Amino acid sequence: MADLGNRSSDGRVPIEPQTIDAPLTRHAVFLVLTVAPGSDSLDAVRSVLSDVDGLVKTVGFRDLGASFTCTVGIGAAIWPGLAGLPLPRELHEFTTIAGARHTAPSTPGDLLFHIRSDRQDLRYEFERLLLEALGEAVAVEDETIGFRYLDTRDLLGFVDGTANPVGDHLPESTLVGEEDLAAAGGSYVVVQKYLHPLASWQALTTEQQEAIIGRRKADNVELDDADSGQKAHKTLATIVDDAGVEHDILRDNMPFGSPGTATFGTYFIGYSRELWVIERMLERMFIGDPPGLHDRLLDFSEAVTGTVFFAPSAEALSNLGSPPPPPPPAPATRPVSSTPEASPPSDESDPPEAGTGSLGLGGLRRTPTTPQQSGDER
Ligand code: HEM
Repeated sequence: MADLGNRSSDGRVPIEPQTIDAPLTRHAVFLVLTVAPGSDSLDAVRSVLSDVDGLVKTVGFRDLGASFTCTVGIGAAIWPGLAGLPLPRELHEFTTIAGARHTAPSTPGDLLFHIRSDRQDLRYEFERLLLEALGEAVAVEDETIGFRYLDTRDLLGFVDGTANPVGDHLPESTLVGEEDLAAAGGSYVVVQKYLHPLASWQALTTEQQEAIIGRRKADNVELDDADSGQKAHKTLATIVDDAGVEHDILRDNMPFGSPGTATFGTYFIGYSRELWVIERMLERMFIGDPPGLHDRLLDFSEAVTGTVFFAPSAEALSNLGSPPPPPPPAPATRPVSSTPEASPPSDESDPPEAGTGSLGLGGLRRTPTTPQQSGDER
């Protein structure tokens, strides 16, 4: 029997769309589109999106071992006309964040397709068929083709993705629950494309690089921050609220670029149950904590895009435009702030257990999830 590698759990059908915890793959494309004006375009897009599961089967079934899947995100501007559902509570366009030294720009995008596969040709085939089906209803804003680099490293040479949530924490951190029943089972998605001036990064010593990231380069072991000065990236990206609860997100970043054109980048993608968590991470990175002491990773990483989407559940996606179904049962019970302002993370959020993976969420009910992820990959 052929080696099916990271195949879907039952080994019979492709991974269904909107499976955000799908296994890490060797290849991905991040496709950001805008929708042409007019109701005809919206109708065409709605028809294609509600049949994405069929297209995923068409392509994914051709090699079940390739872990092929696609996650669709929808932007705030087209949500009301497209979805026929209430706007997810936190969904809005990416807000530009201007720090003293670095800016996170907001760039156009109505639709995101996060297409993952262990085979380049499958992601190509899917993208070809998808864009053919969407036709003139859309324009491509950005197409970034990512690849896995060595042992899941970014092009700066560090292992990227280690602190992602695992087990029960994964759906608890990424899927909207009872706090917004109309959006339950979906996830907020933020994407940003970063370019690295690799020569200046490589001019740093390994110790300087390690202090910026907050992990050792060779063996990936987490490091304490210096007693004073700018905090490490992993610390600025750790969000703890006033109740001491750490709020995680799921990242599936991928390197992209080509030595031939001297293009070196990281495509950041973050999935979260709460959009404010990623926004707070970005504020801490770009404005700094305390303000002025920005994330030094940004001195070597220029953000050139920034867009927010909401990835509805597979069921909501396939029912786009249909009358809303009765609210689903609440998939999780972890308390979530009713508004970002109601329970903001502490400004002094050096977490007592930064990076330990302990969220202090014991005793919470499990959130149903699709068991596609192989835990050792995150
Ligand atoms: C150039 C872009 C970026 C690169 C190369 C990068 C790289 C890394 C690396 C190497 C780590 C340490 C290992 C790990 O836990 O994954 C890390 C941690 C992390 N990064 Fe980034 N990152 C980037 C942008 C971002 C952005 C924009 C966010 C959020 C908005 C973010 C959120 C996080 C989080 C939440 C962690 C884990 C923190 C913890 O230890 O709990 N990163 N990143």
